[in-house]
Amino acid sequence: MNIDTEHLHHWMQAIRQSNDPMRTMDAFWSGQLKSKEWLIDSLELVVRPYINKTKLSVDIHGGWVGVLASMLFQSNLHISSIRSIDIDHTCESIANTMNQLEYHSNRFRAVTGDMVNIRSDADIVINTSCEHITQDQYDLWLSGLPHNSLICLQSNNYDIKEHIRTANSLEHFVQQSKIKVLYRGQLELPLYTRYMIIGNQ
Ligand SMILES: C[S@@+](CC[C@H](N)C(=O)[O-])C[C@H]1O[C@@H](n2cnc3c(N)ncnc32)[C@H](O)[C@@H]1O
Repeated sequence: MNIDTEHLHHWMQAIRQSNDPMRTMDAFWSGQLKSKEWLIDSLELVVRPYINKTKLSVDIHGGWVGVLASMLFQSNLHISSIRSIDIDHTCESIANTMNQLEYHSNRFRAVTGDMVNIRSDADIVINTSCEHITQDQYDLWLSGLPHNSLICLQSNNYDIKEHIRTANSLEHFVQQSKIKVLYRGQLELPLYTRYMIIGNQ
């Protein structure tokens, strides 16, 4: 996918203005960017037969510093608006700066909150942080989603301290996710395998 220079400038501004630029740059490891590019390429294939709308609203749960949101705005998906939810309050201002063009036109908002307590009614609901929540938290989160939303989930088999619910295979991730699968796939990255499921309830 193409990233335009204006958005690239806002990415750099968000990194520069953040309290811990090195930490913010964790969102730009090759594996992180490739996983998001893969998500967008896959959504482009699945969305159109599934949702018959010109413009799409998106909620990203565990949206971190807003890189996926910015990439979605630059994709061919025709996004009307994105809300990016993260429990870490430091993410909010970074994500709003990362997406400042869309923030100023009221198409983007980062909010601080626990995804389990947030109700979504967006056309597409994304959670690329499945490895960061327990199965109980996930089940509660899923129960709050509308049945007509397209749900896009990612997890991985990367066993590090902050990953409290990894999946050891794509099949395992399908079992954990408990949704009807329209697309499933895995992406081999140097340190781990990323799993993705797109589907609905
Ligand atoms: C390291 S990041 C993103 C990892 C993911 N693989 C990705 O690339 O999107 C995980 C994010 O999930 C957030 N998070 C963890 N538990 C959460 C919860 N209950 N509600 C909202 N955000 C949460 C963390 O604050 C963090 O910003």
